[in-house]
Amino acid sequence: MNGHLPRKITRRSFLSTSGKLALGAAGVLLGSTGLFYYGAIHEKKRAGQANATVRDIPEKFVKIGEFKKLNAITGFEKVNYKATIQDAWIKTSKQGFVYVTKGDNGELFILSPACTHLGCSVEPAAEMQRIRKRELFFLCPCHGAEFDKVGNAVGVVTQGLDTYKPVIFGADVYIDISSPERRT
Ligand code: FES
Repeated sequence: MNGHLPRKITRRSFLSTSGKLALGAAGVLLGSTGLFYYGAIHEKKRAGQANATVRDIPEKFVKIGEFKKLNAITGFEKVNYKATIQDAWIKTSKQGFVYVTKGDNGELFILSPACTHLGCSVEPAAEMQRIRKRELFFLCPCHGAEFDKVGNAVGVVTQGLDTYKPVIFGADVYIDISSPERRT
């Protein structure tokens, strides 16, 4: 996932291009899921350069990829990430991966791979396993927990996979890796 946008853009170009892209993408997501929010990532003026701005992206936000590419997913995409998380006392590095899938209505789901039984990483089920059980999509190799395409539990466990809210900035999708959402 190598979506590219310049790190430094002018306020004018931000308003005329990135803003439109963000609003367009927001419309798509808001219309279908409610999983989207915007505002955690900001532009700010660069010191000493009145017309220049830079992205102010907290380190805990990791880029998952270009919205256009992710929105075209038909099965799933495994996306590796590296992030730095700063709490009140220490800074820690974290790396791992998430699965990106889409729901029946085209909504984007960003799933933690951590099984809700004991934390093993779930894997995409083999085609033969999916034939046996139509809703099965992810399977835990440790004790067999089963999840559907959007992370709902469909066997062995009752708790679905954690999700991350997609945050769209410009043409890209980010997640706050420190804040997975637990299903009730
Ligand atoms: S850790 Fe996944 S089923 Fe036990």
